[in-house]
Amino acid sequence: MTARIIDGKAIAAAVRAHVADEVARVQRAHAMTPGLAVVLVGSDPASEVYVRSKHKLTQAAGMASFEHVLPSDVGQDELLALIGRLNRDPLVHGILVQLPLPKSLDTESIINAIDPAKDVDGLHPNNAGRLAAGLPALSPCTPLGCIILTKSVHASLQGMNAIVIGRSNLVGRPLVQLLLNENATVTIAHSRSRDLAQLCARADLVYAAVGKPEMVRGDWIKPGATVIDVGINRLSGTDGKTRLVGDVAFQEASGVAGAITPVPGGVGQMTVACLLVNTLRAACAIHGLPPPEVQPLW
Ligand code: GUN
Repeated sequence: MTARIIDGKAIAAAVRAHVADEVARVQRAHAMTPGLAVVLVGSDPASEVYVRSKHKLTQAAGMASFEHVLPSDVGQDELLALIGRLNRDPLVHGILVQLPLPKSLDTESIINAIDPAKDVDGLHPNNAGRLAAGLPALSPCTPLGCIILTKSVHASLQGMNAIVIGRSNLVGRPLVQLLLNENATVTIAHSRSRDLAQLCARADLVYAAVGKPEMVRGDWIKPGATVIDVGINRLSGTDGKTRLVGDVAFQEASGVAGAITPVPGGVGQMTVACLLVNTLRAACAIHGLPPPEVQPLW
């Protein structure tokens, strides 16, 4: 069997186009332009690429984009002062502090300083707690993207067996909560789990988010399962070139799975698309407007 390839690039483009339509509608009806502020500390090359892409795609969706680049030796107080200004800025509806931060900074207290209403990363404990309690919340973008991709294959996830491999605050934990909200049965696995292959074998939905290149093998996958690969790992080849691989051994798994996301071209682009969704949602909520029509996307 050869799995259907889930085209994350095309689905992300459709989400962005839908957000752009909604932004235009909100602008016409309420003369309000959603605004996103992205804060980058230091010059990590991968983070620079992400931030540039966020800036470009935010503007392409008709939103205002504010970029703040700070040196890697910026003090904690200076960064907190910037977040305070962004919290008070009426043109800013979403704030994202690009992670990872330099080790000299205390990530937890920086995230805690973001106004939860503007926390489009869904990382503030208010949003994480609300999500875990099944209440409306801004939820992290990559897990939201994973749900949208899954729903491009399955209209309903009710009663399906899902396994989430990885328990990070950015992906694994919130993904578990979103899957529970969809009435899936969820197994949470991680680097210390025993018999991962056997746990995977029962799953209709496999989410790999561990950051270990090609760790999930083809013979772990139940025939016909849907596989969502969140990993983005850069491997150096013998030819000196680097290539991107996921957390799933794609060639093996695509011979067994029913549907699978490639790397690149799968989950990657969904993160920024969902960031735009969250910024639009936050802007409407802050202005007391009805929620935007984004739910039909998934
Ligand atoms: N670094 C990698 N992914 C993300 C993300 O989704 N949000 C933030 N803030 N930083 C990241």
